[in-house]
Amino acid sequence: MNGRLQGRVAVITGGASGIGRGAGLRFAQEGAKIVIADLDREAGERTAAEIRAQGGAAVFIRTDTASAADNDAMAQKALDEYGRLDILIASAGISHAGYDPAHPGSQRRCPIVDKPLEEWERVIRVNLTGVMLSNQAAARRMIKAGNGGAIVNVSSIAAIGPAPMLADYSVSKAGVLMLTRVLALELAPHKIRVNCILPGHIRTPMTAGLYETAQLMPPIGRYGEPADTAAALLFFASDDSSYITGKHLAVDGGRT
Ligand SMILES: NC(=O)c1ccc[n+]([C@@H]2O[C@H](COP(=O)([O-])OP(=O)(O)OC[C@H]3O[C@@H](n4cnc5c(N)ncnc54)[C@H](O)[C@@H]3O)[C@@H](O)[C@H]2O)c1
Repeated sequence: MNGRLQGRVAVITGGASGIGRGAGLRFAQEGAKIVIADLDREAGERTAAEIRAQGGAAVFIRTDTASAADNDAMAQKALDEYGRLDILIASAGISHAGYDPAHPGSQRRCPIVDKPLEEWERVIRVNLTGVMLSNQAAARRMIKAGNGGAIVNVSSIAAIGPAPMLADYSVSKAGVLMLTRVLALELAPHKIRVNCILPGHIRTPMTAGLYETAQLMPPIGRYGEPADTAAALLFFASDDSSYITGKHLAVDGGRT
């Protein structure tokens, strides 16, 4: 296999499913070796096996991105398994504290005046602190290796357009956007680029069942697929964007 990520090693959080899985499949086709990091062991092992079945290289490590120790072990896995770490895709996320992967689309919408503190804290912990911890663990190793690198975070269009009843989610994603910009400046001297994508309405297990209402249809006339986000993630992960850092790109069919 020969491609735009030949010789690179990519860690993908949330890589078991949806947007992360789409990136794993595409990046492997472009020559990258993949570490799938996810809470869901069964789905993660399945995705890694899928990548190997298409001729790529992939391993799975069970990771809770809300845990600093797990993020550390995840980044180390890339070095232990493949000897380097070039790319981090931070896609792990939840749409609300009680999100149950067994019941996709079961978002609990709730006005801020009724929001239980535990729910708020859980969403911020996974969607914002978890992204920071994964960025930190990867960046530490990239700096030490001295080969530069690319970090791409998965935010949301909810970062730039307020989503009523989903304040925790919106705020966590706005935080990821600013984290991306700050880190880009901090890591630029190390030749590590940090960018993020803002997906719109992408058909994944997280959003299953959400798109039955016509009002959500993006101007382009279809919902997005993980292949659409994978193409944008590939741009930021590859040398095609070697002079771009601290930027965000909406992948939303014209929604915003
Ligand atoms: N699908 C969309 O329309 C959409 C839109 C905007 C943003 N996003 C964002 O894209 C990212 C991926 O979402 P998706 O649609 O692919 O959903 P998904 O549910 O299909 O995939 C998310 C993955 O993250 C994993 N995960 C959740 N919490 C984790 C944790 N603490 N540690 C490790 N892994 C964890 C899940 O097990 C799952 O495999 C999320 O950050 C989401 O907020 C999605």
